Amino acid sequence: MWGGRFAASPDETMKAINASIDVDQRMWREDIAGSKAHAAMLTAQGILTQEDGAAIQRGLDEIAAEIAAGAFPFSIDLEDIHLNIEARLTERIGEAGKRLHTGRSRNDQVATDFRLWVRRSLTEADEALLGLMRILVLQADAHADWIMPGFTHLQTAQPVTLGHHLLAYVEMFARDRDRLQATFAHADACPLGSAALAGTPYPIDRQATATALGFSRPMANSLDGVASRDFAMEALNSLAIGAVHLSRLAEEIVLWTSSHFRFARLSDGWSTGSSIMPQKRNPDAAELIRAKAARIAANAQSLMMIVKALPLTYAKDLQDDKALTFEAFDAFLLSVGAMAGMMSTIQFDRGNLRQAATFGYSTATDLADWLVTHLNMPFREAHHVTGAVVKAAEAHGVAELCDLPLSVFQAIEPRITAAVIPLLSVEASVAARASYGGTAPERVRENVARLRDELGLKA
Ligand code: ARG
Repeated sequence: MWGGRFAASPDETMKAINASIDVDQRMWREDIAGSKAHAAMLTAQGILTQEDGAAIQRGLDEIAAEIAAGAFPFSIDLEDIHLNIEARLTERIGEAGKRLHTGRSRNDQVATDFRLWVRRSLTEADEALLGLMRILVLQADAHADWIMPGFTHLQTAQPVTLGHHLLAYVEMFARDRDRLQATFAHADACPLGSAALAGTPYPIDRQATATALGFSRPMANSLDGVASRDFAMEALNSLAIGAVHLSRLAEEIVLWTSSHFRFARLSDGWSTGSSIMPQKRNPDAAELIRAKAARIAANAQSLMMIVKALPLTYAKDLQDDKALTFEAFDAFLLSVGAMAGMMSTIQFDRGNLRQAATFGYSTATDLADWLVTHLNMPFREAHHVTGAVVKAAEAHGVAELCDLPLSVFQAIEPRITAAVIPLLSVEASVAARASYGGTAPERVRENVARLRDELGLKA
């Protein structure tokens, strides 16, 4: 393709380091779409004859069918997807194929293909997250008033509702979707026509190719067009944040399903067995989601380091952007799919969740709040009195504050009345937390109703 200037062919190792066809053949649809839009524009502008333009369109359609059928002869000698398709076109239609590359370069071609691929994949990731959010909202609805321990420092802190816990992830994933959509908007400009770097002397119509490829506009600066990869950096960093969120839920699944917590059980379809210990049910998918988050975040870093300090415009370093990006999207989609599968079939154990919520005097704050509200005690003092009550409960071997005799309370603070005792159950504790955004079942149900509406789930 570029042999005119050379007498000898490349060294084998040179070919091996230079070729990207193994990776970038995945962009064949985008490459053909880009070439068809470019050729149609060249024809409309009178840069190509109608006859050549028609031959190119036909040839590219045939090549698309050939690739789709798995019959395309990919060759490492032709480096990348762009040269493979162009060479095949000339093989098929002759002379006209050699005119396709008029007024463009592989530099704007690859930038265009890659943007198209990333844009499509952003939409796929966005839709996958929407699916997962719907599952979590349905589970939150079904478990709106199930009581579980809320943790800080992984120590029992206060009782919360399972519905509230699940909806926390829905909020995170909603922001992850916002980030993916914002990245889509930033990627929504077309580099095609930037040519090698400086633009082209041919009377091309960049608005036409941008529109034909579904971009809202052409990129305004040709140097930026071929050199910039921030759309991919932003995509991977957005995926990395989403993957980190998935990894937190994955970690909770690992904890919840362990024989020490016994909060939940994964379905058979989402559990694995041990080859030696017949009793084991392992949460492998959740563990792998944790691992994928590491790889996605690392790929985001790698891509940033590839672009870091790269002078304008294109340099071959940028060829390595694609493997990182493809791998990150694959890992993300797999993770979301596995999380959706686990979360739609997981069985929670209401009794174990509730029992664990009572551990560690989890309603102590409710006693302190009562002292503030009913005795007008300053909160810091109420905190101190409550601490003394917890200490007394421990000394009496009583596991829950609501089971402690009134006399023990009154020995510490004589103004405490029997009215406080029923408020110290885990049910009363969650019901009391009805502030906006709080864990009370009524607040959870309001959020479920709002989210059902926003996510298109029928009530
Ligand atoms: N395979 C190359 C890449 O992915 C295409 C662009 C090559 N451009 C060049 N001037 N060698 O980056």
